[in-house]
Amino acid sequence: MARRSPRVAAAAMAVAAAAVALTPPPPLGVVAGGALPPPTPPSGIPQVLLTAATAPIPVFSHPAIGAPLQWRTLSAIGMPWFDCLGVYARDDRRFTTWDGAPVRRAPPAARTAEQWGLCAATAMAAAFDHIYGGGTSAPVYAATAAAGYTLPDLNDTACARGPDPSDAGCVGLAAVRRYINGTLDRDGMNADGRAGLPTGAPPRPYLDTRTGYAPVNGPAAGVTALTRWAPLVQDALGFGTYTAQTVAMAQTSLAAPLLVPRRRLWRLRLRPPYRSPHAYAPGFVCGAGAADPDRLCDAARAVVAAGAHLTPGRRTLIRWFDRPAASIADLAFRMLTGGGAPLADYVVAELAINAFAWDATVQVWAEKLRHDAARPATLIPSILRHTPAGAAFTPAVPPPPTPDYPSAVAAYCHGIAHILRALGGGALNLTIPLTEGQVGDGLPAAAEAISFDSLESLATACGESRVWGGLAFPAAVDAGRALGLAVAKEVLRTVACRAPGTPGLPPCERGEGGGGSP
Ligand SMILES: *[C@@H]1O[C@H](CO)[C@@H](O)[C@H](O)[C@H]1NC(C)=O
Ligand SMILES: *[C@@H]1O[C@H](CO)[C@@H](O)[C@H](O)[C@H]1NC(C)=O
Ligand SMILES: *[C@@H]1O[C@H](CO)[C@@H](O)[C@H](O)[C@H]1NC(C)=O
Repeated sequence: MARRSPRVAAAAMAVAAAAVALTPPPPLGVVAGGALPPPTPPSGIPQVLLTAATAPIPVFSHPAIGAPLQWRTLSAIGMPWFDCLGVYARDDRRFTTWDGAPVRRAPPAARTAEQWGLCAATAMAAAFDHIYGGGTSAPVYAATAAAGYTLPDLNDTACARGPDPSDAGCVGLAAVRRYINGTLDRDGMNADGRAGLPTGAPPRPYLDTRTGYAPVNGPAAGVTALTRWAPLVQDALGFGTYTAQTVAMAQTSLAAPLLVPRRRLWRLRLRPPYRSPHAYAPGFVCGAGAADPDRLCDAARAVVAAGAHLTPGRRTLIRWFDRPAASIADLAFRMLTGGGAPLADYVVAELAINAFAWDATVQVWAEKLRHDAARPATLIPSILRHTPAGAAFTPAVPPPPTPDYPSAVAAYCHGIAHILRALGGGALNLTIPLTEGQVGDGLPAAAEAISFDSLESLATACGESRVWGGLAFPAAVDAGRALGLAVAKEVLRTVACRAPGTPGLPPCERGEGGGGSP
């Protein structure tokens, strides 16, 4: 999935820019991203949050941080941000907490954007510290202190008496502590790495001890089931240090969703991508006369053709969409900078997008493991090995270490586009300036803007970019789109009950979309 990540909502584009500058260069052969553009001076964002979000947090930008951890982090920021909104929102709308509990509002005089910003900045810094280790947010505390703001941190004892709406920092800290205790520490991701290990053994953070998933194909066993996922073997440094992929964070498939109850996610199960997997012998080759009931060869040729003559423009899009947490998800911020949306609507959009992205990740991972489909990177060089283009087939960017079907990126793009459209983002300016080298690999070669007619066409291009890049088969993109849209609709039904009266949301149906704590 996205290899460099940072989106802390918005101004966080700048977190990325700074973080890239501070991160040690990645090993040879690993693609580094370029710098991201400086933040647009935003209209409605409180100064304290802007200061906090533009401080560098290098760890979050590491290329190895995959989609589950990115979205887990962004949800740990977006959910407390919404809780802060309930306390400090100025308008007449009443918000619950992200998970539906009543909120104690601040007195009217204290309900300002600046107070919300203090609450949100505190929650953001503490969420980073909790997930990546105390000290991660030191640059945030330094930058905000230099600007005259005092944010309490997770070690703070001054907030011990509990949240007092007159102290926005303490409210933010309480919101993030509640999220940590009630959600993060119980989400089944094995973040502390102690699951299944004897006392005293060194922890193995995020190790999968739950699913029992093991690939049927492997570097040692070879390919025994042609249509099933096979670990890609890559030369990490270019000097013979070969590593085989392992499926990343398979336990995400069993993790607790945030807003859509698991039973509703399960109703969204997809049909298998291949109906006749047993019709294919491991040595199957296209055009050699063997039956091809699932039309693997058509799909393989379509992917080869789509990637055959990639223009620099398409290469740029492949890379931009490859990091949805830093690209399409950031579009929400444009609701503030150019869209004229009130701060509250923006924070509701962040709730919906981040909760969607996590819940979609849970279901996408479940489906990826259940169908265990091969990616083009391993299947095409096998079944088209008699053709030069097939034998040499290499995706435009390294494929993520997960099975093909459904495409997570397609799910994110279509679901986020749907949410933005529903919440008033239909009028967003979709001309997006990129700086030279912004997406990595020297692309774009000069500063340029990418432009889309509509959120729909942006999401379609995003899905197709997975095929152009040789990352996913078309069926995986179609399935990702269907799943992403379905999860997004479920999320909006629940958000309607958390933020009733928000323009674009349906009325809250009690007992429906009740979601909430796992
Ligand atoms: C909190 O205290 C622990 C233990 O002393 C330390 O490792 C951590 O960095 C501290 N966190 C912050 C945010 O200062
Ligand atoms: C943590 O969560 C548990 C279970 O929901 C609850 O009983 C406990 O009071 C919480 N602790 C804190 C410090 O919030
Ligand atoms: C949309 O954004 C681009 C890039 O920031 C800018 O050049 C253009 O003027 C904007 N269009 C409108 C209609 O605001």
